[in-house]
Amino acid sequence: MTLANVFITGAGGMLATALEAVLKPVSHVTALTEAQLDITDKQAVLRAVQGIKPGVIINAAAYTAVDRCETDSEKAMLVNGTAVGYLAQAAQVTGARIIHISTDYLFDGRKDGPYTETDEPNPLSVYGRSKLLGEQELARFTDKYVILRTQWMYGENGKNFVDTILQLAQQKDELKVVDDQYGSPTYTEDLSAVIRWFVEHSEVDGQTFHFSDEGVVSWFGFAREILKLSRIKTKLIPVDTSEFPRPAHRPHNSALDKTKIKQVTNIDIRTWFDALYEYMKKTGKIR
Ligand SMILES: NC(=O)c1ccc[n+]([C@@H]2O[C@H](COP(=O)([O-])OP(=O)(O)OC[C@H]3O[C@@H](n4cnc5c(N)ncnc54)[C@H](OP(=O)(O)O)[C@@H]3O)[C@@H](O)[C@H]2O)c1
Repeated sequence: MTLANVFITGAGGMLATALEAVLKPVSHVTALTEAQLDITDKQAVLRAVQGIKPGVIINAAAYTAVDRCETDSEKAMLVNGTAVGYLAQAAQVTGARIIHISTDYLFDGRKDGPYTETDEPNPLSVYGRSKLLGEQELARFTDKYVILRTQWMYGENGKNFVDTILQLAQQKDELKVVDDQYGSPTYTEDLSAVIRWFVEHSEVDGQTFHFSDEGVVSWFGFAREILKLSRIKTKLIPVDTSEFPRPAHRPHNSALDKTKIKQVTNIDIRTWFDALYEYMKKTGKIR
């Protein structure tokens, strides 16, 4: 079966790379990098969408440097917020659906338990606020959208926690890792498989869904498994967030409740541990 004509923004990014690999065998994919299409250029966005005539737009473009967003808030709000509205308006004009990727950083992390789609966002950072604006702009201009909120993503072709920990562990005898922020690591391949499902199912439009791999862990617990799998002996020291002050505040608990997406898609979600093993095996990080 060939799926809709799909247009991916933010090509070359971590998620977009995995998405292209998953979708290209089953659909006609146009993927444009920032250099080819800057989504903050409203006219260029409209021209591109009118030219490509996609059935589905997947917005994988974003300003993802969470700490830098604090001092570069105008750009963050423009790329992650206002520009999502440009894509939505172009989608509305051409009749395309739009699948947009959002984040757990919309939440303040004070909830005891995983966040559902109906929990009230209360972002702690500029990045979180800009992504919330993106969701609002999307829904303001079109009904034919799906918002997928995800978290703690890693995969090929992107700066991510797994690669950073491995790199640091090779350079240092001991590493301090935050042990009081909890969430669920998410492999880009798993999110891409779910996005493929949404490309095929327009009947769920107008809704928001949460997705991550299964299981909740702290950054410290995640790092411990990464080192265990790679057999690197570097000592890991659990620390509190207060020991690592960063420009952007992060939620302490941002686990996402996946009840809705499981019911709607019927997709089996694997554990973060199984996904991590596959990523490390595939990328030669496990010998
Ligand atoms: N990574 C995570 O842990 C995580 C967690 C939750 C949600 N998300 C969301 O998932 C989505 C994909 O994230 P990712 O991790 O794949 O990010 P990424 O690797 O940083 O990819 C984002 C891509 O967007 C491009 N981009 C930036 N500004 C643009 C613009 N104005 N016009 C067009 N393209 C632009 C970037 O290009 P340059 O690099 O050349 O600027 C980059 O290629 C984002 O919406 C992000 O908010 C990510």
